[in-house]
Order: sequence, then structure tokens, then C-alpha cells
Amino acid sequence: MDRIRIVGGNELAGSIPISGAKNAALPLMIASLLTDDTLTLENVPHLADVEQLIRILGNHGVDYSVNGRREKQQEGYSRTINFSARNIVDTTAPYELVSKMRASFWVIGPLLARMGEAKVSLPGGCAIGTRPVDLFLEGLQALDAELDVDNGYVVAKTKNGRLHGNRHVFPKVSVGATHVLMMAASLAKGETVLENAAREPEIVNLAECLIAMGAKIHGAGTATITIEGVEALSGARVRVIPDRIETGTYAMAVAMTGGDVVLEGARPDLLQSVLDVIAETGAEITATNAGIRVKRNGSGIAPVDVTTAPFPAFPTDLQAQFMGLMTMAKGKSRITETIFENRFMHVQELARLGAHITLSGQTAIVDGVAKLKGAPVMATDLRASVSLVIAGLAAEGETTVNRVYHLDRGFERLEEKLSGCGAVIERISG
Ligand code: UD1
Repeated sequence: MDRIRIVGGNELAGSIPISGAKNAALPLMIASLLTDDTLTLENVPHLADVEQLIRILGNHGVDYSVNGRREKQQEGYSRTINFSARNIVDTTAPYELVSKMRASFWVIGPLLARMGEAKVSLPGGCAIGTRPVDLFLEGLQALDAELDVDNGYVVAKTKNGRLHGNRHVFPKVSVGATHVLMMAASLAKGETVLENAAREPEIVNLAECLIAMGAKIHGAGTATITIEGVEALSGARVRVIPDRIETGTYAMAVAMTGGDVVLEGARPDLLQSVLDVIAETGAEITATNAGIRVKRNGSGIAPVDVTTAPFPAFPTDLQAQFMGLMTMAKGKSRITETIFENRFMHVQELARLGAHITLSGQTAIVDGVAKLKGAPVMATDLRASVSLVIAGLAAEGETTVNRVYHLDRGFERLEEKLSGCGAVIERISG
């Protein structure tokens, strides 16, 4: 199993190219199931989760090809990929595939809408709480789907070949359920109104994609999305937005180590609340033509309290990294997690580096220390593992992060991007 070895203490300086967003690329790829035409996606990051979804879609009959000069693109940071679901050969998503990545459950929406049936295994995914699927099932039932849970599978059918539009109020904001309902309603008969919908930028990116494919959607990015169903969707060419979680992660790394880095291609509007918080900690944040410049020198890190919540508030996917930053703040901060239970597994590992953190229910109280000291630590999930990397960059001495396959799911060329800015970081294979 690969490990990452870091020798901390260097400031970061230079530039880091921001990749396409994993959480936008996945639903866009799944949208290819809605049409027998080709969907071309630009700026798709090269990540384990993307490769896994390619395998899952392939099982349903989706062909893919990487555009242009293959070798050159594979060397680069992101790729343009064509997806073609001309013939859906299987409407079952088996346990062996779905259990490896929770988002693959989302194929249920387009399969059901286009084929009138789908049999999808209940998902697995990151070990961050129970993560049920009730919001998906209630939403699909509102569109007139018939559902059964049998042997660990959700078996879904339309009543007479097509889903039917309806008004549906999500009892809780869910990114995944909003994606699925928006895709399903695009091919339903009549109008669907989704209320209390997620407003994340990835929802807007999917809506742009569906609209380019011929869907009639209004209001994506607000809490109410209206979808007028159409008979069929066509192909399109769509660009994946820059990854706001990767952007925030590197911004926090610079805020922690000190230095001056331009995050190339990053879009401030995708993470304004995060940038505001990082600025409050004492870093200087500037929007430039190239992206976002993050700078901190001299003065220490100010403690700031944050509470995670759906967009546009502070994202749960940056909670662990922010906790990393706060471990070296000059004082106490409180970090409250409201999206997932059990998303504090990084606390014990940060403590191995010398952090002082106590947990009180869903709140972590972080008492900043003057320095962290390198140690061997264990990656527990995708975002938690990168919090250990940024803490390791600021710690004195050597840190090794074990189980880095978690990182490979969501961070493209992490070691290369950081070493390009002066960090001492390398992957040790085996
Ligand atoms: C997506 C993101 C993930 C991010 C999360 C919250 C992707 C691939 N993943 O995950 O990185 O952390 O949004 O921003 O885009 N819930 C239910 N019932 C359901 C579905 C969800 O109770 O049927 C709960 C979840 O347990 C959680 C909350 O709703 O407490 C929000 O989850 P949701 O927004 O659905 O997260 P994902 O779409 O899985």
C-alpha cells in the first residue's frame, strides 16, 4: 500500500493548477445515460473515483473515448472524455461495483427515466455516518416510480413506461437526491418542481449540462428548481467546473505553512464563504485573472469558529482541513459538523501530530498549539486524509500518511502539485 512521506516546515510558494471538480464530473458522467448521443465532458480530473465510475457506466453499456492526443492528455491534469450510451445493455448496478463508491447509486435516476426500470444495489462509500437513501426513494416515488427493496437492491419501475412530473419538497437538503431528481424529471412527462433543493455549484453544472442536452430547467442554484420534462435528450459538450474543495484545501495549506501561492483556474464565487473564513484567520486572499492568490507571512493564525452547512455556507468537505489549520491557531476555535455524524475521525490522527482537540457532540474544540511534530498517521477517509497532509506540511520533521488510496479518490497529482511549490513530499510505493 502506498504511503506519503512529508518533511514539514517549508513555506509554499508558486502556483498550483486546480483540477476539474470530482463532485461535478461524477453526476455529469452519469447524465450520459440519459441520451443515445455522445456527451463530451471537458476538464474531467484523473482520479480513482472517475475511473471507477467509468467501469460502472461501462457495465450499463456506456462506451468512452479520451479525446485528442491520448498520451499527451494522460500526462496532463485533466482530460476531455466522450461518453456514449447508445445502447443500454444492462439496467442493473451490482453490489460489487456500487459498494465501492456511493455516488454510483445515482445511476438509478437516468436509468429509470430512460429505460423505465433500474435495479441498483444499496451503496457503500466513505465511512462517515449512516448515509441512507430515503430521500432518493421518496423523490422518485413522487415522480410515480414503483419501488421495492429486495436483497440489498432497490428495484425501480415506471408505471406505464414513463415517470410523471410532480411537486416535491425534500425534507432535508441532499446534493445527491437533487442531482438524481433533476436527471429523472428531465425525461418525465410534465412539470416537476423541486423544493428545498441543494444549491451547490455542482448542481448548477449538472443543470447546465442537462440544458445543453435539451432539458428545460429553471432555478438551479436556488432552493426551487422547475423542470419541464421532454421526450428525449441529445448529446452536448460541457466543461466540468474547477474543484472548490481542492481550491479550499490548498488555500488552507498556504494559510497554515505561510507563503504565497496562486491557485490557477480557481473560481472565488464557488467558495466565497470559505475564502472569507480563511481571510479571517489572517491570510490575504485576492482574486486575480489567473485564479485566486493566497498569501500569509509573519503574523500567526487567528482562531475562527465554523459550522458546516449546505451551500453557500461552509462545506463539510473542508471541515477536516480547516481543523488542521486551526490546530496551529493562536487560541481556541469551535468547529461544528451538521451534515454528517461521525465525521471527526481525523481528530485522533491530528492528535498524533500534537494537536489539542476535544470533542463535545458534533463540535470539536481546537486549542491551537505553537507547533506540530511529524508522526506516522492513518488516512481514514478522503477529506480527513488531506487534512493530515496539510498538517504534515506545517509540522516539524517527518510525517508519513498511510492508506493514501483515500487521497487518490479525490486529489489529482497531490504530491506533484505541492512539491512544485516547495513542499518536501513524496509517494512511497508498496
Ligand atoms: C455529496 C458530496 C459529498 C459531500 C456531500 C455534502 C458528491 C459525489 N458527494 O454527497 O462530497 O460531503 O454532498 O455536501 O457530490 N441523507 C439522507 N438520506 C438520503 C440522502 C442523504 O438522510 O437519502 C443525508 C446524509 O446522510 C447527510 C445529508 O443528507 O446527512 C446530506 O447528504 P447529501 O447532500 O445527500 O450528500 P451526498 O450527495 O452523498
